[in-house]
Amino acid sequence: MAIKDDFLFIFSCILAISLSSSILGRPATFLEDFGITWSDSHIKQIDGGRAIQLILDQNSGCGFASKRKYLFGHISMKIKLISGDSAGTVTAFYMNSDTNTIRDELDFEFLGNRTGQPYTVQTNIYTHGKGDREQRVNLWFDPAVDFHTYTIMWNHHHIVFYVDEVPIRVYKNNEAINILYPKLQPMGVYSTLWEADDWATRGGLEKIDWSKAPFLAYYKDFDIEGCAVPGPTSCASNPRNWWEGTAYQALNAKEARRYRWVRLNHMIYDYCTDKLRYPVPPRECLAGI
Ligand SMILES: *[C@@H]1O[C@H](CO)[C@@H](O)[C@H](O)[C@H]1NC(C)=O
Repeated sequence: MAIKDDFLFIFSCILAISLSSSILGRPATFLEDFGITWSDSHIKQIDGGRAIQLILDQNSGCGFASKRKYLFGHISMKIKLISGDSAGTVTAFYMNSDTNTIRDELDFEFLGNRTGQPYTVQTNIYTHGKGDREQRVNLWFDPAVDFHTYTIMWNHHHIVFYVDEVPIRVYKNNEAINILYPKLQPMGVYSTLWEADDWATRGGLEKIDWSKAPFLAYYKDFDIEGCAVPGPTSCASNPRNWWEGTAYQALNAKEARRYRWVRLNHMIYDYCTDKLRYPVPPRECLAGI
């Protein structure tokens, strides 16, 4: 009887997997994985729900969040940022455990700029409630002309932020020397578009120009591959998840070259070298990048 039950169970699993993969595929539509969390009227689905438009105007910004949380995985989406004068706006794409004082968070924040001035990408990492790890990179292309892929890759070995194929930030798992690493709390995937002209552009000197509103950003190709929580508890620790594979345990030579190129040519701020804030550099900064 047990054998028959097992067989039936396995058979229905295979059926369910093949059905869901043929129906869902990847990338997913917006509503398969996400819901609107802030201002329905400011998020429009386009292209049959395969893409969305985010709107910021004087009435409101907007935001969306994944329906589920994930423990480790590879999360990416294509974003076309606000074109023209985007000074004072912030578009964010991040993961967050939503656990307040002990939260883990991985942030991409796109800080707008005046027409012709470079967009800045700020990244930050919170581990167990501790953030203050900002880095800033000025993009080497205009992110408002085309869609580009922004990825957060999070496995047991490191966290990598990618812009297209280029790693712009790496946070290694240095638990061996007692540096905190996010690994226990699942995180949701979020995005928001809002006004932050008190700090975003040139430290708040450049204000938002509402005569240019509405400000529009576009998202598509939502791709979350990770261990959903709640879900099978064995998933997150399974070394056979593709994002845990040897190819993803460290940057390869090409990625390492690109990462060095970004740090040398495009990085404009690194908390690790901010002597005013950190006379003694935080320990993870000394543990190698
Ligand atoms: C905006 O442009 C200025 C001038 O090129 C640059 O210094 C700054 O880093 C850019 N980004 C932001 C967010 O201010």
